[in-house]
Amino acid sequence: MNIYIITGASKGIGKAIAEELLEDENNRVVGVSRTNSIKHENYRHQPLDFSDIEAVEHNLQKVFISYPEAQKLVLINNAGVLGDIGYVGENMQNEMFQFVFDVNVVVPAMLMNTFLQVYQQHQAQKVVVNVSSGAGKHPIDGWASYCASKAAIDMLSQTVQLEQDKRGSGVKIYALSPGVVDTGMQGQIRESDASRFSTVEKFRDYKAKGELASPEEVGSKIVNFLHNTDKYREVIVSVRDM
Ligand SMILES: NC(=O)c1ccc[n+]([C@@H]2O[C@H](COP(=O)([O-])OP(=O)(O)OC[C@H]3O[C@@H](n4cnc5c(N)ncnc54)[C@H](OP(=O)(O)O)[C@@H]3O)[C@@H](O)[C@H]2O)c1
Repeated sequence: MNIYIITGASKGIGKAIAEELLEDENNRVVGVSRTNSIKHENYRHQPLDFSDIEAVEHNLQKVFISYPEAQKLVLINNAGVLGDIGYVGENMQNEMFQFVFDVNVVVPAMLMNTFLQVYQQHQAQKVVVNVSSGAGKHPIDGWASYCASKAAIDMLSQTVQLEQDKRGSGVKIYALSPGVVDTGMQGQIRESDASRFSTVEKFRDYKAKGELASPEEVGSKIVNFLHNTDKYREVIVSVRDM
């Protein structure tokens, strides 16, 4: 039996990954998000709001329960938010930085920390996939907090992989960029005002020209990647190369 704990499995990329995994009866999926949209006998939803750190801390033991019979244990930190688009210093609320960092960095770090701790003695194959973005590798005006949060995810993943290697645990950690995918997040990007984000038109064009990948297509590539992690030695990976 394989256990997949996926944050943000209610929509977009996370939902597509969960649904594809549930087609295999050997897989069990735990979805962690505020809402739920999946009903399946091998699916369990754990409601959690990642902007409420105290609630997350109190509910961690409900997410990472004992799975003595698991052969594979996978954590996919996929939930993420863009936050408000706009220039720093121009009507940006200070609370927004905390919100984006809590959802995109602090909670994924807490989940990874707890996953590694709880299952340390477990003999199963263990993999953590932190969903990152090209926006963590080059700046995009109007997206400062999002870009910074994804850069943090990349470095967090690289550092934790280094630690796991030093311990000889065999655990694999990845920071995976999914590419440009037709989800609610892209809808929010297209609605933005060009005065707050200069390249908005490029993102509107992706949609108009049918250049966005579907969540199902990307979900399928990520599931295939999860079946072949022994072929991926680098921590930073991209769906574009899969
Ligand atoms: N779409 C793209 O083009 C693209 C490109 C690069 C990277 N990414 C990354 O891919 C990941 C998935 O994005 P997506 O495009 O699939 O986005 P999406 O369709 O907006 O889905 C976001 C998911 O995150 C969950 N989430 C949001 N806020 C949350 C909160 N406060 N607490 C708990 N869960 C929360 C949502 O669940 P609930 O609403 O039910 O809580 C939802 O399932 C993100 O990390 C994103 O940064 C996306």
